[in-house]
Order: sequence, then C-alpha cells, then structure tokens
Amino acid sequence: MAAIVFLALIMSFSATSAVTNISTDEHALLSLKTPITNWSSSVTHVCNWTGVICNRHGRVAALNLSNMGLLGTIPQSMGNLSFLVSLDLSKNNFSGSIPKEMAHLRRIKEINLNFNDFSGELPTIIDA
Ligand SMILES: *[C@@H]1O[C@H](CO)[C@@H](O)[C@H](O)[C@H]1NC(C)=O
Ligand SMILES: *[C@@H]1O[C@H](CO)[C@@H](O)[C@H](O)[C@H]1NC(C)=O
Ligand SMILES: *[C@@H]1O[C@H](CO)[C@@H](O)[C@H](O)[C@H]1NC(C)=O
Ligand SMILES: *[C@@H]1O[C@H](CO)[C@@H](O)[C@H](O)[C@H]1NC(C)=O
Ligand SMILES: *[C@@H]1O[C@H](CO)[C@@H](O)[C@H](O)[C@H]1NC(C)=O
Ligand SMILES: *[C@@H]1O[C@H](CO)[C@@H](O)[C@H](O)[C@H]1NC(C)=O
Repeated sequence: MAAIVFLALIMSFSATSAVTNISTDEHALLSLKTPITNWSSSVTHVCNWTGVICNRHGRVAALNLSNMGLLGTIPQSMGNLSFLVSLDLSKNNFSGSIPKEMAHLRRIKEINLNFNDFSGELPTIIDA
C-alpha cells in the first residue's frame, strides 16, 4: 500500500514537471506567432507540430521552419528552448535583431538564419 502511494507520488511529480517543461517549449514556439495552422495545443502535441522534432523526453530538440514565408521578429522566449540542438529559420522574412536570450541555448550545435532581414549582431550562441 505504502509502495503504491509512493509510486503514485513519483508519477504525479514527474508528470507535473513534464507538463511545465512542455508548456515552456510550447510558449516559446507560440511566441514566434507563426500562422502555421497546426501550431496549436488544441490540434496536437507540440512534438507533432510542423517543423518540430522532440528528443525522447518530449522536449523540442530541433526546429526547422526554413522557407515557410514567415515574417516578424524572434522573441526573447526562444531562449527558453533549452534542449534545442538545431535551429533552421533560413529563407524567411524574419527581421529585427536576434535577442541576446538566444545565448541561453547552450545545447545548440547547428543554427541557420540565412536569407532573412535580420539586423544587428548575432549574440555568441555557439561557444563550443
Ligand atoms: C524541467 O524544467 C526544470 C526547470 O526549468 C528543470 O530543472 C528540469 O530538469 C526539467 N525536467 C526535465 C525532465 O527536463
Ligand atoms: C501525433 O500525430 C500522429 C499522426 O498525425 C497522431 O497519431 C498522434 O496521436 C499525435 N500525437 C499527439 C501526442 O498528439
Ligand atoms: C501540419 O500541417 C502541415 C501543413 O501545414 C502538414 O503537412 C502536417 O502533416 C500537419 N501535421 C499534423 C501532425 O497534423
Ligand atoms: C530544413 O528543411 C529544409 C527543407 O526541407 C532542408 O533543406 C534543410 O536541410 C533542413 N535543415 C536542417 C538543419 O535540417
Ligand atoms: C521565457 O523567456 C522569457 C524572456 O526571456 C521570460 O521572461 C519567461 O519567464 C520565460 N518563460 C518560461 C515559461 O520559461
Ligand atoms: C521577403 O523578403 C524578400 C527579399 O528581401 C522580398 O523580396 C519579399 O517581398 C519579402 N516578402 C514579404 C512577404 O515581406
């Protein structure tokens, strides 16, 4: 009995942290304000969204929105995608500056922002 209660406690605890982390990733992606229709938690799980690849823990590991005709600026909250390894936003019409919060992406290995209208400097994202 005690073991079952303990197991239930662990399970609810890990479920809670998973939800927190997934919604962190989800908020970060939604802050990009893309018009991609299935970028909505009411449609499907964030790991199923167009251009999104998750790791086995359900965290966003790769984002590829290359050549999707996207406009707007990159929000600071993109720096919250702490498990992001690969980011490809090339061939869009993103503008403005790259937020310095992107430097928080310490797992990032590959980043492609070519063919946009960015201004300013790229923060030191890759320090490896
Ligand atoms: C969830 O996020 C918290 C804080 O943001 C972190 O400490 C924790 O390790 C994360 N959990 C997983 C399973 O990634
Ligand atoms: C992801 O998409 C597949 C195929 O469209 C679907 O079968 C699955 O239920 C979806 N998963 C989640 C968690 O939404
Ligand atoms: C999301 O929409 C794209 C087209 O915009 C489609 O190719 C893709 O299969 C859709 N994915 C899901 C999980 O519905
Ligand atoms: C992103 O997708 C485009 C088009 O599908 C592809 O050419 C490109 O290699 C992809 N980028 C990455 C980093 O995988
Ligand atoms: C995401 O990042 C923003 C700006 O850097 C921050 O203010 C916010 O607290 C973060 N949100 C989450 C859910 O982690
Ligand atoms: C996107 O940028 C290209 C090249 O800078 C420009 O020709 C095109 O008109 C822009 N498209 C939109 C929708 O702003």
